[in-house]
Amino acid sequence: MKKMETEILKYNKKVEEKAAKLLKEGNLVALPTETVYGLGANGLDKEACLKIFEAKNRSADNPLILHISSYEMLEKIVEKIDEKQRKLLETFWPGPLTVVMKKKEIVPEIVTGGLDTVGVRMPANEIIKSIIEKAGIPVAAPSANTSGKPSPTTAEDVYVDLAGKIPLIVDGGECEVGIESTVLDISEENYTILRPGKYTRQDFEKNGYIVGIDAGILESGKTPKSPGQKYKHYAPKAETIAVYSIDRENSKKEILKIIEEKIKEKKAIKENKESKENKIIKIGIFKFQETNIENKYLNKHAEYIIKSLGSIDTLEQMAQRLFKGLRQFDKENADIILVEACEETGIGFSIMDRLKKSTNGNIIYIN
Ligand code: TXA
Ligand code: MG
Repeated sequence: MKKMETEILKYNKKVEEKAAKLLKEGNLVALPTETVYGLGANGLDKEACLKIFEAKNRSADNPLILHISSYEMLEKIVEKIDEKQRKLLETFWPGPLTVVMKKKEIVPEIVTGGLDTVGVRMPANEIIKSIIEKAGIPVAAPSANTSGKPSPTTAEDVYVDLAGKIPLIVDGGECEVGIESTVLDISEENYTILRPGKYTRQDFEKNGYIVGIDAGILESGKTPKSPGQKYKHYAPKAETIAVYSIDRENSKKEILKIIEEKIKEKKAIKENKESKENKIIKIGIFKFQETNIENKYLNKHAEYIIKSLGSIDTLEQMAQRLFKGLRQFDKENADIILVEACEETGIGFSIMDRLKKSTNGNIIYIN
């Protein structure tokens, strides 16, 4: 891949024009959305989409989402839209919902990974919406991270992964939602959630839609229907361990216990190797504000980076901070990240879907 200069430009009308032009000419542009930053390309241009896979190092069987700004655009890319589908879309769009529908011929195979369906989303974020409108084409955009890493929620996080590989990052500030859209398959009679996100099963039910949850994301041993769900994902460089407890005091005790163990482990390794290296272990603690971990409780034989997930009563805040925080710990060279887990209800279900992957399933459940 040819190395190039990557510009980060704060959004304004001139930048919008530049972004739209680059997209139309077959180039990649990173764009803000309300969920996470996306790596955009002309979704009807095979060659342009191919560049996405190269820049992200993404597996070719993992399909892309097409982002649209109008229902006219939707009609160009999907087969007939029935009444039930239209109503659902009008309720949840624009917003953090991707629907899987039967695709039309015009959608290139590379976008859908050879499937006969396509993922489509009409984002609520005004910046990407008006850039799509200006370009006049559906914009294919996966999350703008290197495959395997946590999704980026700021322009700087995109830069860390993609500098030198794309010409432009449009800076629209921090993403509000912080985790990716809910992927809902509406291509069949029974609607199914393929990837949980901001919109939960309860949100659909409140509006009169009965939706199932793909068995593949319920730890059933079945293959997920959404190809992206099966890959290693959202993982920081540092070893990451999550701790779940309904009791904040117990959670704190467990975190302190793990810290003691890790310090001992590190000491044993050092003695074994008779290494002269004196680097002190750096531990990241990502905790709820209610969990009272003050410096005085912490073993002095380690360095600490403490970040807040917000209140346990506002999991939306946890969703918004999760990926950004994990990436920050990496930037600050943490050796280990200890993060508190949440209840798997409402948006907590979606957050835990991500956290299970970030920790590679390393979650300690205590009372
Ligand atoms: O919030 C989001 O959805 C962000 C922003 C940029 O819009 N995008 C995003 O894209 O998360 P990506 O590519 O990282 O994740 C898309 C997911 C993948 O798990 C993919 O496998 C699934 O959607 N997907 C796309 N098309 C599909 C299809 N036709 N059938 C099943 N799953 C599909
Ligand atoms: Mg992704």
